[in-house]
Amino acid sequence: MRYFLSFLILGNSLLPTHASTPTHGAKLCSEIPAPHVLGATIASIDSAIRTNFSVQSSPPTLAQDIVNLNVCEVNVTLTHTGSSDHVLVQTWLPLKSWNKRFVAIGGGAWAAGLGAIDLALPASQGYAVSSTNAGLSGNPLSPDLWALKEDGTVNFELLENFASRSIHDMAVVGQAVAASFYGRPVKTSLWNGCSTGGRQGLVAAQKYPEDFDGILAGAPAIYWTEYVVAELWPQVVMKEEGYYPSNCELDGIVQAAIRACDNKDKVKDGIITSPFNCKFDPFTAVGTMAQCGEEQVEITSQGAAIVRKIWDGPKTPSGERLWPGIPIGASFAALAYTTTEANGVNGTGVPFFLADAWVRYFVKENPEFDTTSLDSAQLVELFYESKSKFGSIMDSADPDLSKFKKAGGKLLVWHGLADQLIYPQDSIRYLQEVEQIMGGEVATKDFFRLFLAPGVDHCGFGPTPGAVPTAPFNALLSWVENGVVPEILEAETLPNSTAHFTRKICRYPLVAKYRGRGDRAAAKNYVCVKPKEDC
Ligand SMILES: *[C@@H]1O[C@H](CO)[C@@H](O)[C@H](O)[C@H]1NC(C)=O
Ligand SMILES: *[C@@H]1O[C@H](CO)[C@@H](O)[C@H](O)[C@H]1NC(C)=O
Ligand SMILES: *[C@@H]1O[C@H](CO)[C@@H](O)[C@H](O)[C@H]1NC(C)=O
Ligand SMILES: *[C@@H]1O[C@H](CO)[C@@H](O)[C@H](O)[C@H]1NC(C)=O
Repeated sequence: MRYFLSFLILGNSLLPTHASTPTHGAKLCSEIPAPHVLGATIASIDSAIRTNFSVQSSPPTLAQDIVNLNVCEVNVTLTHTGSSDHVLVQTWLPLKSWNKRFVAIGGGAWAAGLGAIDLALPASQGYAVSSTNAGLSGNPLSPDLWALKEDGTVNFELLENFASRSIHDMAVVGQAVAASFYGRPVKTSLWNGCSTGGRQGLVAAQKYPEDFDGILAGAPAIYWTEYVVAELWPQVVMKEEGYYPSNCELDGIVQAAIRACDNKDKVKDGIITSPFNCKFDPFTAVGTMAQCGEEQVEITSQGAAIVRKIWDGPKTPSGERLWPGIPIGASFAALAYTTTEANGVNGTGVPFFLADAWVRYFVKENPEFDTTSLDSAQLVELFYESKSKFGSIMDSADPDLSKFKKAGGKLLVWHGLADQLIYPQDSIRYLQEVEQIMGGEVATKDFFRLFLAPGVDHCGFGPTPGAVPTAPFNALLSWVENGVVPEILEAETLPNSTAHFTRKICRYPLVAKYRGRGDRAAAKNYVCVKPKEDC
């Protein structure tokens, strides 16, 4: 009976108000009951049918416009017990052709999720999909509206939401409202996120091992309290050297390194396949000209000295490496940004916004703190201060995934080898730590696989010269639902790239090697091999 009642005539089109193939027990969009979330009170549930609407593209998160969406939108707001937060979980339930899956989408930078621009594509593909603001402002560029309480101290409740709690809220709410609307439980529950979203995905595997059957984590922002502070290292180096090279000069040295190491794999494609084996001495570029559009800049020995230190990474006073450096081949434009013009007019350094805000709002609890004033000794202190104050909340790098493994979960992590913001060394370290405590590769490879994409920048946002994984989420899905274990990810250069090629991204630690015949631009002519020291 409900089936007949659930159609409304709007204009001249017949629009369902619940799922097109209703099952016994399915609820109307307007009648979806409030879900139960342990440790929280549901403050409101608002739902509405939205038909034939569009979401405009918003690169890099949403590459193309999504049109003709038809969903039941459910907004659930909740407050955690003992907290005054106000968390929104927004879920879109496709009215037609639901694929029986649920996917939760992670956020970026300072946002736990971005709402409509995250929801649009999966909803158009038939997924029930959720995004949450975690009770934060939703601004990916700054935490200024939520980091500190009125008394000026860190808002730990909201930080905990950002760190972990909201991930579970979203899983519980999204799955519950989907089950109510469709009248049957979700068949497969998945996570998809990159950067902050990748970190959230790993948190799900660590803390909420039963929430997701499969997790795709791109360039995860793990070891947060360490890597974020280490992102300030390039600025500290320039300050201590008393020289701020122009962005063109820095890029000239990076390009010289790429030219020097590109062909080590016998494929001249403008990317370094194994950046950790590229031993390029930046001083060999001194005196050569960097070309940036119309502009030419001579590479100086001061510039070379700076690049060498940045590649080396920060060290403790006793000379031990505190954190890796920017991988060779990755752009310096974000972390070593300067206002110096190409013609050499004096400039200054500009600290990366995310690292700058982390230090000011959280580590120092002082929005006025000046991160451009830091020297290397202070950076080391700050690194330890950040870790001791917030490591247990924000690092998101617990290597014990035994419960996730036991629950049958699958974890696919991918990371660009030219990631200029979150270095791929972090994902390698995490895999190794997991292997170490869980019994080696043999005990982990059936549920956790890492793929490193040569020449690819942060999340493949571009412009980037390497081949970006084209469908890592589908690879995860086949693994989860059909047991197809991913050995490679298919990858292709972005449409705007100067060179066009497809490539296999091999499961770490294997690397793709040209098999010696056929088109070097075609993935099929590559095989995955154990890496050699020199390629
Ligand atoms: C859900 O929340 C979004 C974001 O605040 C808002 O634009 C939308 O109108 C809300 N929808 C409903 C049904 O309340
Ligand atoms: C959907 O919207 C588009 C653009 O607003 C319109 O051209 C089209 O006729 C609509 N389709 C339906 C089925 O209403
Ligand atoms: C650059 O800085 C130096 C040292 O501070 C100063 O002497 C010089 O005048 C500046 N040059 C320009 C073009 O601003
Ligand atoms: C591709 O190039 C066009 C034209 O230069 C530019 O507007 C667009 O932003 C580029 N897209 C990407 C993804 O880099």
